[in-house]
Amino acid sequence: MKILVVGSGGREHAIIWKLSRDSVKHELYCAPGNAGTTGLSTTLDIAAEDINGLLKWAQANRPDLTVVGPEVPLCEGLTDLFQAAGLKVFGPSKAAAQIEGSKIFSKDVMVKGGVPTAFSEKFDDADTAIMYIKGKGGPVVIKADGLAAGKGVYVCADEKSALNAIDDIFVKKVFGSAGTRAIIEECLIGQEASILALVDGRNVVMLSSAQDHKRVFNNDEGPNTGGMGAYSPAPIVTDSLWPFIREEVFERTLAELRRRGIEYKGVLYAGLMLTEKGPMVLEFNCRFGDPETQVILPRLDCDLAPVLMACVDGVLRDEMVKWRKDVCVTVVMASGGYPDKYEKGKVITGLAEAGKLQDVIVFHAGTGLCNGNVVTSGGRVLGVTALGADHASARSKAYKALTYIAYDQAQYRSDIANRAIKFGREMSR
Ligand code: AMP
Ligand code: GLY
Repeated sequence: MKILVVGSGGREHAIIWKLSRDSVKHELYCAPGNAGTTGLSTTLDIAAEDINGLLKWAQANRPDLTVVGPEVPLCEGLTDLFQAAGLKVFGPSKAAAQIEGSKIFSKDVMVKGGVPTAFSEKFDDADTAIMYIKGKGGPVVIKADGLAAGKGVYVCADEKSALNAIDDIFVKKVFGSAGTRAIIEECLIGQEASILALVDGRNVVMLSSAQDHKRVFNNDEGPNTGGMGAYSPAPIVTDSLWPFIREEVFERTLAELRRRGIEYKGVLYAGLMLTEKGPMVLEFNCRFGDPETQVILPRLDCDLAPVLMACVDGVLRDEMVKWRKDVCVTVVMASGGYPDKYEKGKVITGLAEAGKLQDVIVFHAGTGLCNGNVVTSGGRVLGVTALGADHASARSKAYKALTYIAYDQAQYRSDIANRAIKFGREMSR
């Protein structure tokens, strides 16, 4: 198959890597890709957000399938545009992608569909939001409505930080038009897990569980990031939770979307808080998670392209998806200063040595090529990934591989997967 993958992060490298290992050889293209995808596919110099540029290429080159990594092109309507040109796309339509593109839309779907989620109110001006906060105090969670590259959520312990968040969103307008509306919601307590499901319009196939590490520093301290590491499976998602998550999260959400005339195809990602009262949805994403994909796909024990195609064609079945027993851990190496300001262009050494280690895959995220060197080009630089018989073994292989890799001001967490190891129960699905 001729396949175009849209995006340039660790997620897209993982997708290309997995496709490159299918039993049938594919002709792979990645737009715009990174130094890691370049070795496995033809790199196209077209930005992921340039949906018209991508369409032009696709109309001329007719890929059998386009797989979209990031949310922005999906929310901008890439799928609709490609479909109108008779091209197959793995990823939801613009209407369906609102599940991630608007927190208010997503919350409304959850509430009307009876999906367990935090109680919330919506606001479109500072004064009303301030009055609400003053009457309520902390803790609360405040979310800008639109896409904010993972930065639009404020978990506020007290009234002062809640008022600062309102100031950011409505007065300083740090998210621009993505912050013309916001929701204020109840703060939930528990452990988080990500459950991604493949959806073909009607059938739902849940992928193995994963857990992300969102804060930049050890012990979940410091600001939120795109994700500093992940592991799969997440032992905290015990067997008894799966039927509940299928019925009350995925089936109800899809039923409510259908009721609104919206058909969902692609990955539906549920960010869950496992509370004392059961799993509750924190957010939906309309795409594969990153870094979750870097730990989920290496565990997939079947070809990827036929599964994605079955999704697009509406013929997805549970039996199509098979898993290896191994556990997978990825440790994200980031640029010093991330998620705030950081420098780019640092030469990365040791990639080949690390990549030769058994059960290790080094996924590239923010990398590029410069004068024959692989250099840093983003906040999250690499996902150093390893498979092992259990979380402890996968973790130690990933950290060992990481010692081979160096660049100026590299930063990473040293406690990835510790939580799973502590939880102590190696349960897989
Ligand atoms: P989101 O982008 O909605 O997943 O939010 C980013 C992070 O904020 C989540 O991973 C949680 O750690 C936290 N968060 C979001 N909503 C809530 C909530 N209602 N209660 C507690 N924490 C939350
Ligand atoms: N890992 C969080 C995300 O992909 O949004």
